[in-house]
Amino acid sequence: MCGIVGYVGGRSALDVVVAGLRRLEYRGYDSAGTAVLADGGLAAAKKAGKLANLEALLEQQPLPAGGTGIGHTRWATHGGPTDVNAHPHLDNAGRVAVVHNGIIENFAALRTELAERGHALESETDTEVVAHLLAEHFSSSADLAEAMRQVCRQLDGAFTLVAVHADEPDVVVGARRNSPLVVGVGEGENFLASDVAAFIEYTREAIELGQDQVVELRRESVTVTDFEGKPAEVRPYHVDWDVSAAEKGGYDYFMLKEIAEQPKAVADTLLGRIGTDGRLTLDELRMPDRMLREIDKVVIVACGTAFHAGMIAKYAIEHWTRMPCEVELASEFRYRDPILDQRTLVVAISQSGETMDTLMALRHAREQGSKVLAICNTNGSTIPRESDAVLYTHAGPEVAVASTKAFLTQVVACYLVALYLGQVRGTKWGDEITGVIRELSEISTQVGQVLETMEPVRALARSLKDKNTVLFLGRHVGYPVALEGALKLKELAYMHAEGFAAGELKHGPIALIEQDLPVVVVVPSPRGRSVLHDKIVSNIQEIRARGARTIVIAEEGDEAVVPYADHIIRIPRTPVLLQPLVATVPLQVFACELATARGNEVDQPRNLAKSVTVE
Ligand code: F6R
Repeated sequence: MCGIVGYVGGRSALDVVVAGLRRLEYRGYDSAGTAVLADGGLAAAKKAGKLANLEALLEQQPLPAGGTGIGHTRWATHGGPTDVNAHPHLDNAGRVAVVHNGIIENFAALRTELAERGHALESETDTEVVAHLLAEHFSSSADLAEAMRQVCRQLDGAFTLVAVHADEPDVVVGARRNSPLVVGVGEGENFLASDVAAFIEYTREAIELGQDQVVELRRESVTVTDFEGKPAEVRPYHVDWDVSAAEKGGYDYFMLKEIAEQPKAVADTLLGRIGTDGRLTLDELRMPDRMLREIDKVVIVACGTAFHAGMIAKYAIEHWTRMPCEVELASEFRYRDPILDQRTLVVAISQSGETMDTLMALRHAREQGSKVLAICNTNGSTIPRESDAVLYTHAGPEVAVASTKAFLTQVVACYLVALYLGQVRGTKWGDEITGVIRELSEISTQVGQVLETMEPVRALARSLKDKNTVLFLGRHVGYPVALEGALKLKELAYMHAEGFAAGELKHGPIALIEQDLPVVVVVPSPRGRSVLHDKIVSNIQEIRARGARTIVIAEEGDEAVVPYADHIIRIPRTPVLLQPLVATVPLQVFACELATARGNEVDQPRNLAKSVTVE
């Protein structure tokens, strides 16, 4: 949600900033802008729409070359996506420029006060007040970092701010509360960004900024303090992926690349966590087994796709550990006064580790005395930092806004947590669970097999490009898979798509079925729980009898569905609970292809942003 870049060093700041923004565009693409310090002054350019619009503007009206600069790509919150509302925002003298991610809750009051003191603010944003406040404070201290600390003490809300001042031409200052900000440490140059992807081509040495910290960047130094000016301890780390992970690598879209990377992402997430004896080792959890033995309930909080992973986890945890498990949308959680105590384990699932709804839910849980375990894909992000324990997924950077490989790895991590809970709590491992562990170790191969058979799914998707609605049905773990299939289609193809528990259909939604309406049905394995299978076969017959065009996802060898399927998508045989790992993949491909056929932007669907750092 908004991408920020800052640079100070010997290169052209504009080139570094624009290249960084290109890698951060997934965070928001309502507008883009930049400011560079050169020739004793400050020059800025900004434009509504995608980064390409800014690049075109810079071509027509180039900015002077300088070694200090900042940039921003926006996901609009306060004020529409216009040129005026685009960042950076400047003070009236045009000496300070600031970019911002987050929401400044008390901006209206600050704006009124500034207007009373004679400042003229021109945008509708909450950010502009910061430029004016920085200018005021700088006029007394002549120190941008000090001015930033003073401003931060005046602000309420969540924010990442990065600013430059023409009177300190070799300084970039950043501040962080809640939203992410990372320092890239180079030689004779330093970087600031919302995400390491922005500077990974120049350095892999990074410093994670903590909550309520201000950083001053010069070419040769990085100084971090708290908002009061006290020196802060920092945590340097090495980024262990390289620039190719953040590039398309020959694919037309990041999403296609990320779908294709799923076998590796799944294998990497399992790596080293299941021993040859079938025992799980999750030492990295930082949560003693004794504590896991004492809990009596699991509550999962997450949003969107991560929430669907949580729904699957509920089936696994309850079935494998016989412990109650609830799953709840993080945005609803704290407002209903949930019952939590020291014996509740709260699992927060988040790819980005920055989703504000999930962060607020975990803070609420910790305030009630519960322990929080994060399942996260982003090293050092806020959610794992604020949790008691963390299990990282190893999907690598996910750039496409629609989540694919992160989802599969979240599901894998949930299985690992479920199995580990069973192991430490002494659940009797029958043949079923032993078999699951064995098959889980091999599941990445099956994900790869699904990917090899996707051409008919693509052709089917293209044939449906003029439809308005697609429904998705599933039972048991197929139900969250159906919800995920519908979510992918909504966000990518902008089509009306809904997922239902197949058994619920007759309680209302069946009224939606009409002639030739495409309905995707995720069919559970006929092996294992055959009752479940039989029930869904009846559901398929019911909708087909009412004219639906049935698209059936069924495992190899399941012949019972054949007479009622207009189209069959085959997936490999897996244990019932592991089926989401293979059944979701065709739905991702289906949505991606439909979006392409409808001429939509696959990697950057309208109105969305990858990392949602507002509530
Ligand atoms: C959908 C999607 C979103 C995210 C949700 C949570 O494709 O990506 O629904 O899953 O915004 O994001 P994280 O996992 O970063 O907390």
